[in-house]
Amino acid sequence: MEKIFDEAKKLIGEAATSETIEELRIRYLGKKGEVTALLKSMGTIAETERKAFGMQVNKLKQDVEALIEAKKGELAGAGQSIRLAAEKIDVTEPGRVPVPGTKHMITITIDEICAIFQNIGYSITEGPEVETVFNNFDGLNSAPNHPSRDMTDTFYITENTLLRTHTSPVQLRTLLSEKPPIKVLSPGRCFRVDTPDATHSPMFHQVEGLLVDEGVTMADLKGTLDLFAKRMFGDKVKTKFRPHFFPFTEPSAEMDVSCFLCDGTNPSCRVCRGSGWIEVLGCGMVHPNVLKVGGLDTDVYTGLAFGMGVERIAMLKHGIDDIRLFYENDVRFIGQFY
Ligand code: PHE
Repeated sequence: MEKIFDEAKKLIGEAATSETIEELRIRYLGKKGEVTALLKSMGTIAETERKAFGMQVNKLKQDVEALIEAKKGELAGAGQSIRLAAEKIDVTEPGRVPVPGTKHMITITIDEICAIFQNIGYSITEGPEVETVFNNFDGLNSAPNHPSRDMTDTFYITENTLLRTHTSPVQLRTLLSEKPPIKVLSPGRCFRVDTPDATHSPMFHQVEGLLVDEGVTMADLKGTLDLFAKRMFGDKVKTKFRPHFFPFTEPSAEMDVSCFLCDGTNPSCRVCRGSGWIEVLGCGMVHPNVLKVGGLDTDVYTGLAFGMGVERIAMLKHGIDDIRLFYENDVRFIGQFY
């Protein structure tokens, strides 16, 4: 018994895992265990010695049990300290700063343009990006052979539907769905077949404006857009209207603003390239043929309309020299504006 105890004590003492302890428990105390075998052998002991033998075996059994329980407790404790060490958190480490999202520069610019016109009574409306050929071209008085209709300039979906090439179809939609006085602004995506480079993108954004009422004149057009230019680019800018051609306006013009960066004083200015003027939008008085599509009496009603490129305005204002930066979504770029 002493031999069994000494050996058990040694092996239990050396055991490093709970699996080993379980093996040892079975080896000594299991059904076929060494201590159990001694207990079972009681019947073979002479009657005079049986009681003393029984007491000794029981003590042995209790001693081995105690060693095993003690070791189990020890191993559980060690396991817990290992786990605790692994789960330790160093509260003095610097934290990770979450990167908050920001509005995209295009959204910011559209919001800014909209806010200026909402301030003077325009309401915001939107039209679909997939349009009819009629709304994009014919209804806007564009000649059947105008080059912009060409497959090489316009993304056609079917013979009669296309991706709108400008936001001007919203003029027609509004004329067909509302009665004067009409005063709407319409931002949105446009599409033209273009190979992307620093100043071209097959998808871009415009904001369209339309005002139709009795007695609207070119003076209203110039006054409205001059106010817009000053709010957008600064109080000091001057505006200039150059004659131009659009099928849906007559007369038509392009508006330039004096350079808000150098005011024409820097021959190598990055914004105006030394000319002192920057082209910012197309505009004009709504063509009577367009008003007629909306069923309006052209002796009574006149209108003004304008359309501007959002990317172009954002690029001018923020010194962005490549339009592709807007669509690549590099956070180093888009995170700069908010
Ligand atoms: N639709 C024209 C363009 O895309 C801009 C414009 C809008 C001109 C309204 C006049 C009136 O260039």
